[in-house]
Parts: sequence; C-alpha cells; structure tokens
Amino acid sequence: MRLKDEVAVVTGGAAGLGRAIVDRFVKEGARVAVLDKSADRLAELEAQHGDSVAVFAGDARSFADNKALAKLCVERFGRIDCLIPNAGIWDYGTSLVDLPEDRIDEAFDEMFHINVKGYMLAAKACLPELVKSRGAIVFTASNAAFYPDGGGPLYTATKHAVLGLVRQLSFELAPYVRVNAVAPGGVGSSDLRGPKALDMDQTSITSIPLGDILKDVLPLGEMADAKDYAGAYVFFATRSDCSPATGAALNFDGGLGARGIFQSSGGKELPAKLGLQGEAA
Ligand SMILES: NC(=O)c1ccc[n+]([C@@H]2O[C@H](COP(=O)([O-])OP(=O)(O)OC[C@H]3O[C@@H](n4cnc5c(N)ncnc54)[C@H](O)[C@@H]3O)[C@@H](O)[C@H]2O)c1
Repeated sequence: MRLKDEVAVVTGGAAGLGRAIVDRFVKEGARVAVLDKSADRLAELEAQHGDSVAVFAGDARSFADNKALAKLCVERFGRIDCLIPNAGIWDYGTSLVDLPEDRIDEAFDEMFHINVKGYMLAAKACLPELVKSRGAIVFTASNAAFYPDGGGPLYTATKHAVLGLVRQLSFELAPYVRVNAVAPGGVGSSDLRGPKALDMDQTSITSIPLGDILKDVLPLGEMADAKDYAGAYVFFATRSDCSPATGAALNFDGGLGARGIFQSSGGKELPAKLGLQGEAA
C-alpha cells in the first residue's frame, strides 16, 4: 500500500484513465475526491469504493466547482496530498483546414477551457491544501504534448499548454508542491469525447479501432489499457520514491519517441537472431 493515508483529488475520475487512477489509488490505500460531469458514473464509483471516495458532480471549467471539490475533500478526508487534473476532451484529429470557419472560435474555447483552464482552476482551488501538505500535482498530458498527429491543432495545442503549466507551476510552487505530468499514448478502456462545438460530444473514441491502428505504430506493439497507466501516477504521488521530481513529464506512450524510419521497432527479429523462438512470446 504505497499511498496509505494519503488523500488525492482527481478530475474526470468517473471514466477511462481517471477511473483507473481512482481504482489504483484506493487499492494503494489512498482516499480520493473525484469531480466528474457524469453523475451516473460517479454513483457507480461510489457504489464500488464506498467511504474511500467522495464524489462531486460538476464541471472542470468552473472555479466554483473546483473550490467545492477541494472543500468536500477537506471536509471528508481532512487534507489534500495529491491533485490529478485529468478531465479532458479530444478533437478527433480535426485539421486546421477542416475546422469550420463559423465554429472555430467556439471549438477553441471549449477545448482550452476543459483541457487547460480546468487544470489551472483545479490547481488554484487545491493550492492552499497542497502547500500545507507539501503535496504533489500530477497532470494528465498526452503523446500530443510532444508529437504531431495525436490530435488536430486544437488538441495538440492544449496538451502542449499542459507542459507550460508543469514548467511554470513547478517553479512557482517549489519547494512546497512537486508538479509533474504523465503523457500517456492511446488509452484502452477510454470513452474520450469531442467538443460540442464540433458536434462531437456524443462521439466516443471507442468508435475508432485505435488498438488495431497502434499495433503497427507503437514500438512496443500494443496499446496499453487505462489501468496500465495508473502506476505512473502512483509514482509521482509517492513521497518516498519521488522526492526529487518536479517539472518533469513522463513519456508513457509505448515508445512513440523511439520509432524508426523504416519500421516502428528495430527489435522484431531479436528472438530469431538470439535463437529464442518460443521463449519470447
Ligand atoms: N484516450 C486516449 O487515448 C488518451 C491519450 C492520451 C491522453 N489522454 C488524456 O487522458 C485524459 C482522460 O481521458 P480519457 O481517455 O480517460 O477519457 P474519458 O472520456 O474516458 O474520461 C474522461 C472523463 O472526464 C469527464 N469530463 C470531461 N469533460 C468534463 C468536464 N468539463 N467537467 C467534468 N468532467 C469532465 C468525462 O465525463 C469522463 O468521465 C484526458 O485529459 C485525455 O486528453 C487520453
């Protein structure tokens, strides 16, 4: 139990990656306050974890909701040790040329308000408690914070902006609060949606065969499931293992930065060359 008696706040914690983080943090002994816009999914979360979670149905874009979440967390669990701003939406790779002229303003605002402003508001709302506890912030970034084609310009710009928050806040909040990010690649078990301004709020990433597409792209050959990503958040939240880390973003994406020109991975023939057929499944 690496997070015994620790208290975390997670936004977008009722589905996908956020849900996997909440499940893992509870398993590691933490108590977790969760904000999400889906009251139904929050009820499911509460039914599973009981008193280990406190849930708040609200909008990550609202400072009042982020404040109410922080207040609920302190009332129920007495403190905040770790904040994980994670609620996000995707632009489904909509390119600049395809962004409709009459919706580009609205789509930009919606993407940035959820993916960037929401993160900053969560940090602002939890700041006094995080300073008191000498705690940590772990932002969810993305492969799109580093490389093109993880989204269109809207999504990619929001995720690059998350790195800006990591760099600036790790400076401003030291030595009291450690600020880092996890940059996942494609996430299995995600229900990631798009902006309402582009009529994509009912579109789920499950409509795309992402696992099949990424098989041929990722050097490690397989898209990870949401639960496979959760350990990185535990690492950044753990005081004993992570005391020197601040201002860091962990590329946690199946090796997108280690791809070749002629093929995604140079190691496919290793077992044959080493005479290990059958032993390296
Ligand atoms: N799915 C992927 O392949 C992928 C890859 C890299 C990074 N990410 C990032 O991971 C994070 C989580 O995404 P996910 O894939 O788990 O998606 P998801 O849709 O499965 O989960 C996101 C949760 O956030 C909630 N949410 C969305 N907008 C909200 C708002 N305005 N207020 C409150 N709650 C809100 C949703 O209700 C949902 O429960 C996002 O920041 C996303 O950009 C996802």
